[in-house]
Amino acid sequence: MAEKSFKFVILGGGVAAGYAAREFAKQGVQPGELAIISKEAVAPYERPALSKAYLFPEGAARLPGFHVCVGSGGERLLPEWYKEKGIELILSTEIVKADLPANILVSATGETFKYQILIIATGSMVIKLTDFGVQGADAKNIFYLREIDDADKLVEAIKAKKNGKAVIVGGGYIGLELGAALKINNLDVSMVYPEPWCMPRLFTSGIAAFYEGYYANKGIKIIKGTVAVGFTSNSNGEVKEVQLKDGRVLEADIVVVGVGGRPLTALFKGQVEEEKGGIKTDAFFKTSVPTVYAVGDVATFPLKLYNELRRVEHVDHARKSAEQAVKAIKGLEKGQSVDEYDYLPYFYSRSFDLAWQFYGDNVGDTVLFGDNNPQSPKPKFGSYWIKDGKVVGAFLEGGSAEENQAIAKVAKLQPKAENLDALTKEGLAFAVRY
Ligand code: FDA
Ligand code: NAD
Repeated sequence: MAEKSFKFVILGGGVAAGYAAREFAKQGVQPGELAIISKEAVAPYERPALSKAYLFPEGAARLPGFHVCVGSGGERLLPEWYKEKGIELILSTEIVKADLPANILVSATGETFKYQILIIATGSMVIKLTDFGVQGADAKNIFYLREIDDADKLVEAIKAKKNGKAVIVGGGYIGLELGAALKINNLDVSMVYPEPWCMPRLFTSGIAAFYEGYYANKGIKIIKGTVAVGFTSNSNGEVKEVQLKDGRVLEADIVVVGVGGRPLTALFKGQVEEEKGGIKTDAFFKTSVPTVYAVGDVATFPLKLYNELRRVEHVDHARKSAEQAVKAIKGLEKGQSVDEYDYLPYFYSRSFDLAWQFYGDNVGDTVLFGDNNPQSPKPKFGSYWIKDGKVVGAFLEGGSAEENQAIAKVAKLQPKAENLDALTKEGLAFAVRY
């Protein structure tokens, strides 16, 4: 079988891979030195588009429109770009074995790839209901969303089941973004999740109440405090009903499941140190194996601001960690030092006409400020998280670019705020002052 050899290999062809390639090009890379190996059939793209504009009924985003690095305002890296730079894109190629001591990767078809430096950028996989044996969960028209192939299948189903019924299982990022996308496509949408409010990983009950109210006003039915325990299908094997633990039964032509992700680290088990479910790295994304780096969703890295090891499953970190790793790799080569990664967590989401941003840490006490009435024509509200008398996190729905910058600044500076009532009253003006 064929063997190929590269100085640098990026395993995974997602967001982090694309931003790493751009940084390699900036820092200087010789033709033939760098390869990206991806099981996807297309060049790296901005994954967040899949749960948003990709699903629009009209004017939907399609490739090549959202290849990296357009998501952060940069030049779009089309497949030709990689060719021009002499970066090899090895697509539709799944790596099934990694031998880190020997610096070798092996694909499903038996191809061997050697490297001097490996960057692991394999991202996350979806958790499936079949993983925990939910009855009938392998029926047709039960969808998950991670890659563009998943999105294409969902788009086909949306066309085939016009004006049908959709059930969304899960009240996290996928649940909220897909609930909106299917409603915009005129499906009759119900959402089911076990927690007392949506997105409990980040939202307070006050924040969630706004989104639940807004979604309800759009005609989305929200069923909380229960889970899907089984599915029935018709004679074609297509899903027809969702059985809930509380005994209720929902009709469904389409089911979308978003019950969380898991970092794709299995290939490296036992070969590299792990921590908090991810691959442990230093502040330069170097792992316990000196020739191996890990970036994006899979990396558990030192979050300097909180003096803690963390893993972050969001696009901003995927981009920045990739850039940091490449700077460090090239810095070592050139004998130049690179600053430690000093990341301010940044998450965002968009659905319907809504858009929120969050910066910092969601720990401690919280205050809610602004107009959070879901019926308002232009709602704008937010929250601060306060720990040890300091603002450590900030959330804002409906903010302008300047206002979003202001909450980012506050989360980074961590100003004192001892009087929570005063902070509630002052609201956004508190952040704008900084
Ligand atoms: P990413 O998942 O982008 O890439 C991993 C790549 O590795 C894929 O190409 C995969 O096929 C490949 N791969 C894995 N194993 C392989 C193997 N064995 N062999 C070959 N290839 C392999 N975040 C945010 O902040 N705002 C947002 O709005 C959104 N929206 C959003 C929507 C949807 C639908 C998803 C799924 C995710 C988001 N995210 C998000 C999260 C964000 O997209 C995510 O954190 C980044 O894509 C992570 O980048 P990585 O490069 O680490 O993984
Ligand atoms: P998530 O962790 O955000 O949410 C999962 C939700 O499903 C939680 O509310 C959880 O309690 C619920 N749940 C768990 N088991 C359930 C069950 N049996 N039945 C019903 N609900 C159940 O994960 P996700 O929404 O699946 O997102 C997957 C990945 O994609 C994550 O890494 C996420 O960060 C990423 N993503 C991010 C964005 C964004 O940042 N805007 C958008 C889409 C996806």
